[in-house]
Amino acid sequence: MKENILVVGSSGQIGTELVLELRKSYGNMNVIASDIRDSSDEIMSSGPFEILNIMDKDELFRIVKKHQISQVYLLAAILSANAEKNIDFSWQLNMTSLFNVLNLAKENIIKKVFWPSSIAVFGPTTPQIKTPQYTITEPNTVYGISKLAGERWCEYYFEKFNVDVRSIRYPGLIGWKSQPGGGTTDYAVEIFHKAIKDKEYTCFLNSKTTLPMMYMPDAIRATKEIMEAPLSEIKIRSSYNLAGISFSPEEISNEINKHIDSFKIDYNVDFRQKIADSWPKSIDDSVAQEHWNWQTQYDLKRMTEEMMINLKNKYKLASNE
Ligand code: NAD
Ligand code: SER
Repeated sequence: MKENILVVGSSGQIGTELVLELRKSYGNMNVIASDIRDSSDEIMSSGPFEILNIMDKDELFRIVKKHQISQVYLLAAILSANAEKNIDFSWQLNMTSLFNVLNLAKENIIKKVFWPSSIAVFGPTTPQIKTPQYTITEPNTVYGISKLAGERWCEYYFEKFNVDVRSIRYPGLIGWKSQPGGGTTDYAVEIFHKAIKDKEYTCFLNSKTTLPMMYMPDAIRATKEIMEAPLSEIKIRSSYNLAGISFSPEEISNEINKHIDSFKIDYNVDFRQKIADSWPKSIDDSVAQEHWNWQTQYDLKRMTEEMMINLKNKYKLASNE
C-alpha cells in the first residue's frame, strides 16, 4: 500500500534527519514535513512542507485530508529542561498534540502513529543500572510526567480502539545536522561544536554524570524499523526501552581529546543536574531486541569519529561560503 506520511515537528533535532530518511524510502512527494516554523533548506526544497500548529486539530485534519495521510510521526514537544521553565504550556502541548493525533487514528482517518517517549519516564526511585523494560516509573519532571502519561494513553488507545501506535523511549540523541531543542542531554551535542570552534567547553552537568545516549543514525533506524515491523512483532504499545551508549561528560571529553589534543572541559553545574541525576545511567533494551530485532550499531568511539568528521566539514563549508 502506498503510504503518505506526515511528520509533525520536522524542524527539530530528530525531524531534520527523519524527514530526509523517510523521503529516501517512501518518495519525496509522499513525506509531508510540518512545523510551526520553517524546516531546513534541504527539507523545504526536497518535498512538501506545511506550517502546522499541532494544537489546532481542525488544521491538522485539513492537512491530513489534503495529503491523504496514512501515517503520522509526532515529534512536536517541549523537552525536559525547557518544560521546567513553562510547566502549564509544556503539559498542554505534550498531551494535546498526542490526543489530536491519536483521535485521528481512533476515527480510522489515519492508520499508524509514531510517538516518541523518553528515558525521562524513569525517576529517582527507578533502578539506575540496566533499567529494565518494566520497572518503577515515578518521574519528577513535567516532561517525564507527560511522557509517562503519553505512554499510558498510547497503550489505552491500542487496547480500546485498536490504534496502531508505536513508540520508543529514546535516550539522549546526538547528531551533527541540527542543534538540540532544550533537553538535559543537550551537552553531548554542544560539546562537539564547542570543541571544534573554541577547543573548550563548560559543561552544565558534572564530570561523572553517566546517561544513556544514542547517535542519530541509530535513532532514525530504530524509528523506521519499529514502524515497518510486522504488527505481530510489536507486543508493547506503551513504549520500548532503547539502550544506546552510556557515558559521562568526562568520558566523551576524553574521546574528543583523541581528535583534538588541546580540547579542555570544565564544569558549571545548573538545574539540569538534578534532572540528569533522576534518570537511568544505562538501559536494558533486550525486549526490543527480542521483539523486533533491535540492535544498536554505534559505540562512543565510532560516534565521536563521525561527529568530528562531519562537523569539521560543516564548519569548513560554512567558512568557505
Ligand atoms: P526539538 O525540540 O528539537 O523539535 C521539536 C519541534 O517541534 C521543533 O521544531 C518545534 O518548532 C516543533 N513544535 C513545537 N511546538 C509545535 C507546535 N505547537 N506545532 C508544531 N510543531 C511544534 O525536539 P526533538 O529533539 O526533535 O524531539 C522530538 C521528539 O522526540 C519529542 O517528542 C521529544 O520528547 C522526543 N525525544 C527526544 C530526545 C532527544 O534527545 N532529542 C530524547 C527522547 C525523546
Ligand atoms: N534528550 C531528552 C531531554 O534531555 C530526553 O528525552 O529532554
